[in-house]
Amino acid sequence: MYYDRNEVELITKKAKEIVDSNVSNDEILNAICQLLKDKIPYYDWVGFYIADRSKNELFLGPFVGEPTEHTRIAFGEGICGQAAVTKKPFIVQDVRKETNYLSCSVKVMSEIVMPVLRNKEIVGELDIDSHTLSPFTEKDLDLLERICELVAPLF
Ligand code: SME
Repeated sequence: MYYDRNEVELITKKAKEIVDSNVSNDEILNAICQLLKDKIPYYDWVGFYIADRSKNELFLGPFVGEPTEHTRIAFGEGICGQAAVTKKPFIVQDVRKETNYLSCSVKVMSEIVMPVLRNKEIVGELDIDSHTLSPFTEKDLDLLERICELVAPLF
């Protein structure tokens, strides 16, 4: 499917400026979440989970959107926990079709998770919830992969 690569380039450039700015890592990650939510209309909740490999779980880091009860997620549990095990992007175009899924809100229709890897190990994840059904394309994979590469050194 065609998508505007220029838009992806521009958002990535802005994200790089944020990463290079002289603020704390939490502020950087928060600003990246806000950037993505502002730029992509179907991104309704954008947040980072941080991997605690000693406990085989993820804990919630900076995010924008409604508060979630899922502040700790075991590896293997839900969409996020499964992506932590496979270390691969996980796109769910319709969350109602998933059995291993942790619901944050009935408004959420779809979700995409991009792992943040360092030396091929999972160090975190970028998790996005959408209130739109089947919104994700190659564009999201391309954009979020670039964003996760940019922020990986912060984890
Ligand atoms: N839906 C996720 C839980 C995290 S929230 O989307 C913020 C999952 O199934 O892992």
